[in-house]
Amino acid sequence: MASVGLPFVLAVLAAALMPPSAVAQLRTDYYATKCPKLETIIRSSVKQSMAQSPISGPATLRLFFHDCAVRGCDASILIVNSNGDDERRNADNQSLKPEGFQTIMNAKAAVDSDPQCKYQVSCADILALAAREAVYQSGGPNYPVELGRFDGRLSTRNSVVLPHANFNLDQLNSYFAGLGFTQTEMIALSGGHTIGASDCPFFQYRIGTDPTMDPAFAAQLNSTCNANPTTGFAFFDDTVVGFDNSYFRKLQVGRGVLGSDQVLYTDTRSRATVNNYATNQGAFFADFVMAMTKLGRVGVKTAATGEIRRDCRFPN
Ligand code: HEM
Repeated sequence: MASVGLPFVLAVLAAALMPPSAVAQLRTDYYATKCPKLETIIRSSVKQSMAQSPISGPATLRLFFHDCAVRGCDASILIVNSNGDDERRNADNQSLKPEGFQTIMNAKAAVDSDPQCKYQVSCADILALAAREAVYQSGGPNYPVELGRFDGRLSTRNSVVLPHANFNLDQLNSYFAGLGFTQTEMIALSGGHTIGASDCPFFQYRIGTDPTMDPAFAAQLNSTCNANPTTGFAFFDDTVVGFDNSYFRKLQVGRGVLGSDQVLYTDTRSRATVNNYATNQGAFFADFVMAMTKLGRVGVKTAATGEIRRDCRFPN
C-alpha cells in the first residue's frame, strides 16, 4: 500500500463506487426521439453567442471543465443558491467569465423553444454540447458527444477543488489522477488553453522571477500588467480564438502564460508529449477528443440521482 499514491486509491474507490449504469447510460443518440434537432439547435445558438462576443467560446469550454471537475458533469456550476453558498461563488470560480454562463442560458432557451424538446434536455448535456461547439467553431475537431447526463441538485462553495496556475507537474498529475486521467490526458486537456486568455494576477508573479520565461515575452507581459494591474490580461497564444496546436509551440519557446502551462515543457517528464503535440496537430486533436469524452463521463448523475432542470440556475 505504501507505494500506491492517495489519488490513485481515491480514483479506484470512486470507480468502484460508481454504479455501472452511470457511465453505460451515456449515448451519442440519447435524444434521437426526445429532441431530434438538439445538435442543430445548439450549434446555431452557440454560433450566435460566439458572434456576439469572442469570449463566449473560451469561457464556455472552461465552464465545462469547472463543472465536471467538481461533483461531476452535472451542471452544478450553473446553480445559484439564494444563500450565496454555491460553486460559482468560490474564489477559484470568480474569474469564470459571464459570457460562458450566458452561452448556456441562450442555448437552453433555444432548446426549450422547440416544443418537442422543452424540459427534455439536461443542462449538463447542453453544457457538454456547447463545449464541443466552442472547440469546433474555433477551428478545432468536431467530435461526437455522449449524452444522457442528469442535473445535480447540490452546489456548495466548499466542494470546489480546482488546479492552480502555480501547480508543478506532480501537483497537476496528482489532481488529474484524482479524476481518473493520465499525464498524457492531462497535457491534452491543458491544450484547451489554445483559446482564451488569463488575467494578470494568475501569472504576474512569474515575470522577472521565472527563468523559464522568454525575456522578450516577460517584458511584453510586464508592460501589459503594469499598464492595467487589475484589468490587464494576456492571450494564451497568438491564435486567440483559434483552436490549434500553437499553445504547445509557445511552450517550446518559453512563452507559456501560466506556470502550470510552462511546466509541461520545462519538466523533462512531460516534454516529449508537448513536443509531439507541437509538431503533430492531428495527434493533439485526437487525444483532446478522447480526453474531453472521458471528462464528460466524470461523476455522471442518473435519473435516480439527478433531474432535468427546468431553469439551469435553480434545482426544480
Ligand atoms: C491544468 C490545469 C489548469 C489550470 C491550472 C488552469 C487555470 C486557468 C487559469 C488561471 C485561467 C485564467 C482565468 C482568467 O484569468 O480568467 C484559465 C483559463 C482558461 N482555461 Fe484553464 N486551467 C487548467 C485546465 C484547463 C482545462 C482542462 C480546460 C479545458 C479543457 C481549460 C480551459 C480554459 C480556457 C478555455 C480558459 C480561457 C477562459 C477565458 O478566456 O475566459 N483549463 N485556466
